[in-house]
Amino acid sequence: MKIETVVNGHKRIFDITPDELLADTLKRYDYTSVRKGCDTTSCGVCTILVDGSPVPSCAYLTARAEGKEITTVEGIAEEAERLAEHFGDEGADQCGFCNPGIALSVHALKLSRKSFTEENLRHYLVGHLCRCSGYQSQIKAIQRYLGDAK
Ligand code: FES
Ligand code: FES
Repeated sequence: MKIETVVNGHKRIFDITPDELLADTLKRYDYTSVRKGCDTTSCGVCTILVDGSPVPSCAYLTARAEGKEITTVEGIAEEAERLAEHFGDEGADQCGFCNPGIALSVHALKLSRKSFTEENLRHYLVGHLCRCSGYQSQIKAIQRYLGDAK
């Protein structure tokens, strides 16, 4: 079956099987930033944005993306780089495996312009596992980043 979507601002037609998952489709169509860690919606590494909201692409049927706008890290490359640099400056960066998914969630949060506290930021990012950081340094760095960005 064929579906039409917009990926990072460009119209794309994907030729898929009905049971195909979006992480697999995007990788097949060379969106190489899309990674998988757990394959069970537990780690957040495969996060992408669908119509501006973060979703785990390892559990999202590609067929559901018909007519929707998808954003991968390739679509927010400048912001992802800025955030990675900021994490480095703040001492919040370690192996970086979790960074692409977190960058997309932070981007969505920034666009939403919602106010946040440390507690609701922790709640918002609960789907992103980080095996290195212990989260405290990341949360502080993201708070500063969003504060700077507003
Ligand atoms: S690979 Fe999708 S949440 Fe872990
Ligand atoms: S920095 Fe290593 S998994 Fe998050």
